[in-house]
Amino acid sequence: MPNVTIREDDVMIKLRSLRKSFGNQDVLLNVNLDIRRGETMVIIGQSGGGKSVILKHMIGLLQPDGGEVSVDNVVISTPKSFDTHTIRRKMGMLFQMGALFDSMNTGENIAFALREHHPELTEKQVQDSVTEKLKLINLVPEFRTKMPNELSGGMKKRVALARAIALSPEILLYDEPTTGLDPITSDVINDLILDMQSKLGVTSVVVTHDMASAFKVADRIAMLYKGRIIEVGTVDEIKNTTNPFVKQFITGQRNLPTGTGTR
Ligand SMILES: Nc1ncnc2c1ncn2[C@@H]1O[C@H](COP(=O)(O)OP(=O)(O)OP(=O)(O)O)[C@@H](O)[C@H]1O
Ligand SMILES: [Mg+2]
Repeated sequence: MPNVTIREDDVMIKLRSLRKSFGNQDVLLNVNLDIRRGETMVIIGQSGGGKSVILKHMIGLLQPDGGEVSVDNVVISTPKSFDTHTIRRKMGMLFQMGALFDSMNTGENIAFALREHHPELTEKQVQDSVTEKLKLINLVPEFRTKMPNELSGGMKKRVALARAIALSPEILLYDEPTTGLDPITSDVINDLILDMQSKLGVTSVVVTHDMASAFKVADRIAMLYKGRIIEVGTVDEIKNTTNPFVKQFITGQRNLPTGTGTR
């Protein structure tokens, strides 16, 4: 488990009674979750359950039909209070589908947000920052000239991570960071997630259904089931859960019991 001090009462991201539907499909019914400053929270749950939808509410890409999202004590879920620029500056997101610009090389991809937000930086400062970000993901400076189509899936994820940290965010959101990668490459990504927490002190939210990854990187794990968070606990607590829905999910058994999962 990560080696950082996390205070229970210091909440960085707060979800309260979050509701979201698309047409007549009710995705989030009542989501409540506190993510503490500096912790890595892993959200697990079935495919199509609304995990990515939760992340998109945290970064302000979606607004809830009901309930509230606050980040660092600022409510971001009402259009009035919503300052996209400030919130996005605090956050980096590793999207589920890579999201590198194919026409730009690695260095330009990493530098993109930096140039957007800091036009005052000199070219040397931008390049130094790219070198620093590459170093954080354990890649040599020369890597900057590689084009996305020359990179393996795992390398693309690493570069996407370097992009996500380009603006030195306080919060990192990871959507399925290890999906589609072999176990060894997945573990490289897991180590980088741990590194980001210890080296940058970020608060992280990781959405995954890779339980090996969840158990390795999490301070706490939350399980989403049928529109609600039905359990939150440390790795040990989740491994020893008595909730049959959580138990079946983490052991990979099919045929979850019927019901809402709440007891
Ligand atoms: N912008 C949108 N418009 C309409 N429906 C959407 C939208 N975004 C998500 N949905 C629907 O909401 C549901 C939850 O989607 P979401 O992508 O959050 O699932 P997920 O838990 O991340 O699944 P996976 O593990 O497969 O990535 C899905 O049925 C999806 O089709
Ligand atoms: Mg998803």
